[in-house]
Amino acid sequence: LKLDLSYTNGFLNDGEIANAQSIVNTLHEDLLHKRVPGADYLGWLDLASRTLSEGVTDILQTAKEIREKADALVVVGIGGSYLGARAAFEWAKPEYYNQLPKDVRKGPELYFLGNHISSDAVADLLTILSGKQVYVNVISKSGTTTEPAIGFRLIREWMIQQYGEQETKNRIVATTDAAKGALRKLSTDEGYKTYVIPDDVGGRYSVLTPVGLLPLAVAGVDIVKLLEGAAEGEKLFGVPSLSENLAYQYAVARNALYRKGYVTEIFAHFEPGLHYFAEWWKQLFGESEGKDQKGVFPASVGYTTDLHSMGQFVQEGYRNLFETFVHIESVNHSVSVPSAKNVEDGLEYLAGKELSWVNDKARLATQSAHAEGGVPNLLVHVPDRSEHSLGMLFYFFERACAMSGLLMGVNPFNQPGVENYKTKMFKLLGKPGYQD
Ligand code: PA5
Repeated sequence: LKLDLSYTNGFLNDGEIANAQSIVNTLHEDLLHKRVPGADYLGWLDLASRTLSEGVTDILQTAKEIREKADALVVVGIGGSYLGARAAFEWAKPEYYNQLPKDVRKGPELYFLGNHISSDAVADLLTILSGKQVYVNVISKSGTTTEPAIGFRLIREWMIQQYGEQETKNRIVATTDAAKGALRKLSTDEGYKTYVIPDDVGGRYSVLTPVGLLPLAVAGVDIVKLLEGAAEGEKLFGVPSLSENLAYQYAVARNALYRKGYVTEIFAHFEPGLHYFAEWWKQLFGESEGKDQKGVFPASVGYTTDLHSMGQFVQEGYRNLFETFVHIESVNHSVSVPSAKNVEDGLEYLAGKELSWVNDKARLATQSAHAEGGVPNLLVHVPDRSEHSLGMLFYFFERACAMSGLLMGVNPFNQPGVENYKTKMFKLLGKPGYQD
């Protein structure tokens, strides 16, 4: 990975990042020695290297069985039990994966459920599953989160109608707490195959646990390469020196911008396949920093699409924005603009040019125009869309987020604010115990 801060020139002072070295040194030591708020949730720090040494044979074996037997895997989960798997799936697999012929796709179709309470979306999913051999991976640490609990009830009931009680049990894999919670109990009662969400890894840091690894392995994502990328990230982004550690540089830069009034960060990408990576990133930073009346508000755009909608606001709207561009240097496919001399669209000068070249010029122009419009921007270069690069990028942002939250003076590992709406919703729903 590379980090380019040139478009923060004029917004950050010379030496502003380097000057943070001493506070970064202190926080780095605190992180390593678990002296930070939320210290019980630091299992992600060396999760990838530990998982590689323990091995992922069991996950790969379960994935192989599901790949052989299933037409479709339905992954039930929300928030930290959903976004990482979806981000990696959309990053690593083809855009129209589910529509590809089975012999090209080689694995089952992948669907996500339990991340909303929409009757229409549920009904449409059940329609598409009709006649298919369906397996389910239900992911919930607590087992009582409303959306996945409802989603799981629905899909389980549907499966019982299709395959009967016993066969349904054979087709469900549960990823949940090691010992406690409703899903652990149900899994024991029903005899489901299970995987454990470690106690010391919070939801938004859990993509490299079985939460992400099992569904990704079923989809044919190379989870060993994903872990290897993250393990390399542990080394690269595990040093205190700001001149070497790009994740810490990023954390310091966004904090410096925040203190100058740039309180909204827009994650900007130029590949539709990164849409859910941006959703994962938003949860990571939003839940980690947005507390104690503090935090950079994380937003996202998919360019060039959004240059035709949000581009106006970014260029000329209220000035409290900065952008973080993620640029993939080498794309998977080569596509060039065809020649069409009889078409008067003014594009003949681009005939024969690679779309990725055009896309990159759009990115360069956007960075320059937005900086000129008063929006500083940072650029993360990713070499390619491989699993290795993705694993490293996951770790880059996780490490940066931890440092950034600590610099801001918040606990980056809790999320107390997500409870309030639940209490009010449970009261409206008539949940026993919530009436008063
Ligand atoms: O980050 C978090 O803690 C949340 O997003 C949770 O992951 C989400 O609410 C799902 O929780 P659970 O796994 O208990 O169903």
